[in-house]
Amino acid sequence: MEYYSTNLDKDLSHIIKGKYFDDWLDIVKEYLLHDEVQRRKLFKHHSGRLWDHMTEVSYYSYLLAKVKHADERVAAIAGLLHDFYPKAYKYTKELDDLDHDYVTDVRKMQLPHKMHAFTHGRAAAKNARKYFGDVIDDKIFSCIETHMFPLTVKVPKYQEGWIVQYIDKYLSIGLINRIRYKIDREEKK
Ligand SMILES: [Fe+2]
Ligand SMILES: [Fe+2]
Repeated sequence: MEYYSTNLDKDLSHIIKGKYFDDWLDIVKEYLLHDEVQRRKLFKHHSGRLWDHMTEVSYYSYLLAKVKHADERVAAIAGLLHDFYPKAYKYTKELDDLDHDYVTDVRKMQLPHKMHAFTHGRAAAKNARKYFGDVIDDKIFSCIETHMFPLTVKVPKYQEGWIVQYIDKYLSIGLINRIRYKIDREEKK
């Protein structure tokens, strides 16, 4: 399945673009065009694409960092790569066809969803360092690693880490509400 594209207008059509959109894009563009990040279009996240979730968390973390006078660059990069884990937690044929290594653990683990929640923060931070070692300093590493707090015990050390974990949860709750809304509408038909 073809996934790579330089058409970021189309690939970011799920984001409601405000006046700071281009400033955010300047920070994250090089990562968005990286092949390993583009492959996240084939990873599932809830009912959508992991790519959509990562880019949304990045954009809103950037905006919240701006409001809070935190480091916008750190928030944008950590937000983007917060779920950049190397192994998918849901099996898809597209991913298996692309590289079997992405889906091997899904079949090995008995409770992949539960295990994933506790382990993927650190896995994502290590994977980010593997691909973008020159930019993933200890601060960004920490923000990615602690984004599942309080499910995991490590507390965010930096303001940007709190921002990313907050936006991630806020969007997840929003997503659940949107799904609920859809279900309600379907039920009323
Ligand atoms: Fe996550
Ligand atoms: Fe997430």
